[in-house]
Amino acid sequence: MNTIIIKVDAEKLRADELDQAAEYLRSGRLVAFPTETVYGLGADALDSKAAHKIYEAKGRPSDNPLIVHIADVKDMEKLAVDIPEEAYRLANVFWPGPLTMILKKNEVVPYSTTGGLDTVGIRLPANKIARDLIAQAGVFVAAPSANISGKPSPTQAEHVINDMKDKIDMIIDGGRATLGLESTIVDLTGPTPMILRPGFITLEMLEHVIPFIQYDPAILMKPEMDLVPKAPGMKYRHYAPEGCLTIYEGDTKAVIKAINREAQSKQEAGESVGIIATEETKPYYPYGTVKTLGSRWDEASIAAGLYEILRAFDDMHTAYIYSESFADNRLGQAIMNRLLKAAGYKVVNID
Ligand code: TXA
Ligand code: MG
Repeated sequence: MNTIIIKVDAEKLRADELDQAAEYLRSGRLVAFPTETVYGLGADALDSKAAHKIYEAKGRPSDNPLIVHIADVKDMEKLAVDIPEEAYRLANVFWPGPLTMILKKNEVVPYSTTGGLDTVGIRLPANKIARDLIAQAGVFVAAPSANISGKPSPTQAEHVINDMKDKIDMIIDGGRATLGLESTIVDLTGPTPMILRPGFITLEMLEHVIPFIQYDPAILMKPEMDLVPKAPGMKYRHYAPEGCLTIYEGDTKAVIKAINREAQSKQEAGESVGIIATEETKPYYPYGTVKTLGSRWDEASIAAGLYEILRAFDDMHTAYIYSESFADNRLGQAIMNRLLKAAGYKVVNID
């Protein structure tokens, strides 16, 4: 399949620029597009054949449901039933934006979109290209992250091109995804609202609007504890780099020392080494390829750069990757959730 790639600028978007992409979505084809979190791989959510193509292109397990993207808050009522009052309150505060809500699905939503579940994930993205595309297409757009299943989510069109070229009909290059981590997922179908996936919208932010919200215990536990996460996608090994990634946590000076010791011995043994550091610590790592996520005090840049760095080390076929820990900031929960999975939970505690 010949993949058409178009470049658009969200600031100067012309009405006709998304015509072909919108037409493609209407006719059951696959279009990758930017959102503020990560790039999505879109198809008509109510067309089960189109949804099926998404699973095929990604190599995604068929029990892993897709998030349905809408362009207007009112569309929530066309996809869901028994919508609790909390959903309206959350939509009011956080939409458009990086929040996905799980609600009871309406019968129009096919099981091929929801991975066989009676619930549906809904999100109204903030990115202008995404919203204009959905509105112009006039269909609801099922869109998982536009990566091959198991790879880090794409934060740039280049990543999508690497994973999806010749497998999908179109890729819209709209520049970098500004947030860089997937949306926060909140399940509103049970007695207590639950966070199924941490993201840019944190527990504290959600608590201001719905006070009794909790984390799904499975996302805070180590895999050996054997809890099954409520978001099917969270149970798969995800974001896994090719190399062996280990996270070091503890006092910064001690972490640097321990990482350097490992890096030196691996390098002397002829292995390639990568280090995930920050602006503040970068100068103290003499071994391996050192990549920085930005300042430790700028947590948004840490979140935004994480997948890009994991992909860069993959491109270099780095054998051993050592990372500092980023648990102690506001987005720590979201960042560490991804980093721990990428590391297969290999953590060295220095204290
Ligand atoms: O930021 C995002 O959410 C991006 C952009 C493209 O919007 N999308 C994204 O989709 O991350 P995906 O498919 O990579 O992740 C969706 C997650 C999976 O873990 C899936 O299991 C969960 O959402 N999910 C979707 N529908 C669900 C449902 N009805 N019940 C429970 N979990 C659901
Ligand atoms: Mg994904």
